[in-house]
Amino acid sequence: MKPYKRTTVTAALPYANGPIHIGHLAGCYLPADIYVRYLRMCEKEVSFVCGSDEHGMAITMKARKENVPPAVIVDRYHKMMKEALDNFGVSFDIYSRTSSEKHAEVASSFFKKLYEKGTFEVRETEQYYDPEAKQFLADRYITGDCPKCKSADAYGDQCEQCGTTLSPMDLINPKSTLSNATPILKRTKNWFLPLDKLAPKIRSYVESHPKWKAHVIGQCKSWLDSGDGLQPRSMTRDLDWGVSVPLKEAEGKVLYVWFDAPLGYITATQELHGENWEKWWKDNETRLVHFIGKDNIVFHSIIFPALLMEHGEYILPEDIPANEFLNLEGEKLSTSKNWAVWLHEYLKEFPNKQDSLRYTLCSTMPEAKDNDFTWSDFQLRNNSELASILGNLVNRVMVLNHKYYDGRVQELGNLEVDKNLLNSIRNQRDKISKSLDNYKFREGLAEAMNLARLGNKYLADEEPWKKIKTDPDRASQIMGTATQLVAAISGIIDPFMPFTGEKMRAMLGVESIKWNDLDGRVLVMPGSQVGKTELLFDKVEDHEIETQKAKLKK
Ligand code: 2FM
Ligand code: ZN
Repeated sequence: MKPYKRTTVTAALPYANGPIHIGHLAGCYLPADIYVRYLRMCEKEVSFVCGSDEHGMAITMKARKENVPPAVIVDRYHKMMKEALDNFGVSFDIYSRTSSEKHAEVASSFFKKLYEKGTFEVRETEQYYDPEAKQFLADRYITGDCPKCKSADAYGDQCEQCGTTLSPMDLINPKSTLSNATPILKRTKNWFLPLDKLAPKIRSYVESHPKWKAHVIGQCKSWLDSGDGLQPRSMTRDLDWGVSVPLKEAEGKVLYVWFDAPLGYITATQELHGENWEKWWKDNETRLVHFIGKDNIVFHSIIFPALLMEHGEYILPEDIPANEFLNLEGEKLSTSKNWAVWLHEYLKEFPNKQDSLRYTLCSTMPEAKDNDFTWSDFQLRNNSELASILGNLVNRVMVLNHKYYDGRVQELGNLEVDKNLLNSIRNQRDKISKSLDNYKFREGLAEAMNLARLGNKYLADEEPWKKIKTDPDRASQIMGTATQLVAAISGIIDPFMPFTGEKMRAMLGVESIKWNDLDGRVLVMPGSQVGKTELLFDKVEDHEIETQKAKLKK
C-alpha cells in the first residue's frame, strides 16, 4: 500500500426523512467510527465527515404525506439523527447538512465546472407529467400495474410485489399519486453524465482496486458488464426541491440527489477546515475512504468517481468498505412497517447501555453477508460476554485492589506467566490492527475480548486470593500485573466501546492511551491510587427482552 499522510473518512449521509435505526448503525456509522477512533489512537491525521442528505424523493414524499414543506421534515430529522449518532458516540469531526447555502454553492460550482468542460450531454426525453398538479413526476410518484406479475400499485421504479426493476413507461395504466390523474408524456431537457463514454476509465479505476470487498467488486462488475453496459444518467431533475441547476436554460430544475449528496462530503470538509480543506480532497497523499451500506455501492464506486475524474482536481475513493444489510429477528428492517429498533428509543429504554448495543452490532456486523439482530442474542452477548468476561475481570481486579491494598497499584510480577500475559497485549493489539486495517471489525472485537479471557484465566490460574495468605509478595505481583492488563484493555476496546474504555480509565486514574502504548508497558503507575469500583455492565433481564419482542409485534 502507498504510504499516506492523512485519511478522509466519510460515512453515508443519511436521508433526513426518519430517525436512525440499528441497521444504519451496524451498516455504516459504527464501522466508520471504530475505524476512525482506531486511526486517531494510532495518531494518524484523519477527518471524519458526515451530515444529513436533505434532498431527493425520500424527503419530498414524507413531506407530502404530512402535508408540510420539505424544510420542516429535514429540520426535524436532521436534529434527531445528529443527536442519536452523537449519543451513540459516533465521533464525527463534523455533521453537516445538504440544504445549506454553502452546500448549494459547492454543488453548483462543481456542476458548472463539468458543464464548462463539456462533460454533460443535453438530451430531450419524454417524461411523465401530471396535467392536474402541473409537474413532472418522479418515478416513485407514478403507480400502475406491474407488467411482469400484474399486481396493482407497482411503482415507477420498482414492483414491490415481485421485485422487478421498472421504468415508469413499463407500467400498465399509470396513475399519478399526486392527483390520481393519468399522466401524459411531455418533452423535457436534462443534462446527462455520459457513463457509456466514461466506461473504459471507470473500468480501469475499479480494476485497479482488486482488494475491495468481493460484493463491492461484484456490484461494479454487474453494472459494467450488464448487457447494454453503463448508460448515460441524468444529473438534473424536473423537481422543485433540491439545489437549483445553475444554468439559465434550466430554470425550475434541480440537481439529481445522487449528484449533490456525495458532494456533501466536500461541503462538510470545507466547513470543518475552512481554507485548508483542499489537502483532504486534492492531495495524492490523502486516502479517501467511504463507509456505506450496500444500496449505495454503485453511487460511490462508479458515479461519484466518474464525477471526480471528470472534474480533474480530486483524488478518487481508495476504499469503499460497504456492508451488507442487517435484518431484525429474521425479517428485513422496515421503517414503514416500524420493524426496527430506533436508536433514540433504545437509549430511553436502556439508558447508558450504548456499548452493549455497539458490542452486539459489531459482533454481528453484516461485513460480508446479510446478518440478523435478535433481542435474545443481544441479551446473551451482554450477559455472557460483556458482563461475565470483561465486566467480571475488571470488577475482580478493582475489588481485590481495594480489599488487599486499599486501592494502591502494586508492582508487576516478573515470572514467565506474568511476562506472557503482558506480551499478549502486544500480540492481541497487532492482530486487531491487522483486522481493522482490513475492515474486519468482528474479528478485531473478538480478539479484544480474547485479551479479557486471558486475564480471567491468569487470575483463575494464579489465585491471588489464596496467595494473599501463603505468599503475599506473589499475590501483590499478580495483582500489579492484572491491573496493567486491565488498563491495556481499556485502550484496546476503546474504538469499539468508547464509553466503557473511558469508564475503565476513570476508575484506574489513567488518562488517554495511544495504540503504540499497548505493548505491555506500564500504563498505571505502581503506587498510584485507583478510584471507586463501578459496575460496567448490568445484566439484561428476560422481561426486558420480552418487552422488546412484544413491542416489535405491535
Ligand atoms: O441511502 C441513503 O440514505 C443516501 N442518503 C446516502 C447518501 S450517501 C452520500 F452520497 F451522500
Ligand atoms: Zn411485479
